[in-house]
Amino acid sequence: MMGFFDQFALPLLHSIDAERAHNMTVFALERAPLPAAPADDPLLALNVFGLDFPNPLGMAAGFDKDARVPDALLQLGFGFTEVGTITPRPQPGNAKPRLFRLHEDRGVINRFGFNNNGHAAARSRLLTRHMRGGVVGVNIGANKDSTDRAADYVAGIKTFADIASYFTVNVSSPNTPGLRDLQQASALDELLARVLDARDFAAEIGPRRPVLLKIAPDLAMTGLDDVVRVARDRGVDGMIVSNTTLSRPDTLRDDIGFEAGGLSGAPLFALATRMLAQTFARVEGQFPLIGVGGVDSPEAAWAKIEAGATLVQLYSALVFEGMGLVERIKAGLVAHLQARGLTQIDEAVGTAVSDWL
Ligand SMILES: Cc1cc2nc3c(=O)[nH]c(=O)nc-3n(C[C@H](O)[C@H](O)[C@H](O)COP(=O)(O)O)c2cc1C
Repeated sequence: MMGFFDQFALPLLHSIDAERAHNMTVFALERAPLPAAPADDPLLALNVFGLDFPNPLGMAAGFDKDARVPDALLQLGFGFTEVGTITPRPQPGNAKPRLFRLHEDRGVINRFGFNNNGHAAARSRLLTRHMRGGVVGVNIGANKDSTDRAADYVAGIKTFADIASYFTVNVSSPNTPGLRDLQQASALDELLARVLDARDFAAEIGPRRPVLLKIAPDLAMTGLDDVVRVARDRGVDGMIVSNTTLSRPDTLRDDIGFEAGGLSGAPLFALATRMLAQTFARVEGQFPLIGVGGVDSPEAAWAKIEAGATLVQLYSALVFEGMGLVERIKAGLVAHLQARGLTQIDEAVGTAVSDWL
């Protein structure tokens, strides 16, 4: 059904400006009646961070920045979705154009800079859908002109603690100047201390929400050592590896590859998967990981799992493959499990880490 839809929608969407095409897609998902995805194979179900996932494939942050379409995405077959990044106050983001498709390379470059409508708008949308259930994470960040960035993340926890399935602390977007400095050990330690304090405080009167840390794929290995040490010492519930990259692999063929911003999609796959395996090796089982970056097929999703991911997210590949990709990946994961005689995803997590190190 979605494959049929993709065949008509994708050429149309590719013929217009990338940001407009994105906005049209979100608009359509908000309003159009959608086919419900078939029920997931029980082999794909898993419990992670104390949450029940019908399948391990999630929509990555950035697609639904303002929490407009979480239910549409769950209905299309995603096992979970992550809204945001959301900042306390609305902000317009960087000047347009700021989103570029790399058709030949099957990649995307964006320099949005956290354009979003702020906490209050997202909260009122999430409140109206809260009783419907499903795993909907909230990705929190800091306003560009904030004088106390950590306070912006704390405000995110306070605002969404009653309705977020989990939180992602995004310190890895390349398009807010200085944001990635929060990955530096002492800044990260202070940030996580304040964020986790706020979470624990909220948990005294409500549910305890898992807090995940999302990192860049451009960290040096010594930087990754520090990040994982701080994350373990502070007791985060998980990590997401990775955000977009500022690097440009030599293999890029598209002219548009020179545009400034974060690169995602197929050209990010190898870098992000190596970072995932390196992170897995350092975490030593203390918490689960979400693998993201360049997942565009069942094989790529399976590779993330074998490189250490318990859950997998994607975004950019949908630009080229359409929503039918979600069902194809899930069917492929079931086939991979069956071919190996495994009864759950957990059994495959991290089994090929050494190949990536
Ligand atoms: C247009 C666009 C906007 C994004 N915005 C965000 C964001 O607001 N917050 C965030 O944590 N990640 C954001 N990301 C990063 C994605 O969540 C993901 O980590 C990255 O794109 C790698 O996955 P992919 O190759 O499947 O796209 C964005 C990615 C794209 C392509």
